[in-house]
Amino acid sequence: MEKLAKLVVMISGSGSNLQALIDACDAGQLPAEIVAVVSNRAEAYGVQRAQRHNISTVIHPPPTGSRAEYDAQLADLVDIFNPDWIILAGWMRILSMNFLGRFPNRVVNLHPSLPGQFPGTHAIERAFEAAQQGQIEQTGIMVHLVPDEGVDDGPVLATQPVPILPDDTLDALETRIHAAEHKLLVDTVRRLVLGEIAVTE
Ligand code: GRF
Repeated sequence: MEKLAKLVVMISGSGSNLQALIDACDAGQLPAEIVAVVSNRAEAYGVQRAQRHNISTVIHPPPTGSRAEYDAQLADLVDIFNPDWIILAGWMRILSMNFLGRFPNRVVNLHPSLPGQFPGTHAIERAFEAAQQGQIEQTGIMVHLVPDEGVDDGPVLATQPVPILPDDTLDALETRIHAAEHKLLVDTVRRLVLGEIAVTE
């Protein structure tokens, strides 16, 4: 049997992108196995999604000690699962080199804007607002490597524009963006595990 790539998926919230990865693995569309889901929030709905699919879950709540310490512990926890790829799918904490330095070229992030357009939180709201002001007519999504602490920045693996329609509501735009994310994330992770995207040191 074909060897399955091991994924650790890190989340902080709803986990709809996690669900897309789970479904793609189950359907045989993604030759990978989600070996663990890591959340910094016990109440994140994505934790329940993982448990429903009998995936190991690790809850690592916000630091009581220093950020460096938290990230080093987080790296130890993730390392136990020996992942080929670590997927940040709605992980809402900036990772320091204490974590990233342990997994060079293996941490992948999903962000709901095009490269450089709206880094950071509330990217969809900010894009919607900019469209209301007549500044933009499209936003987009991207999947990129996370080499360092740069926020939503790093070598781009895939992008997809998403139009903002004249009669869009924020809800409608969010729904369209999330649907695009579910497809692009699965497709990009598939290409990564199949070696179709070259990631070099
Ligand atoms: C997605 O929009 C992702 O791009 C951003 O956080 C959101 C996570 O959504 N980083 P979900 O938890 O996967 O539903």
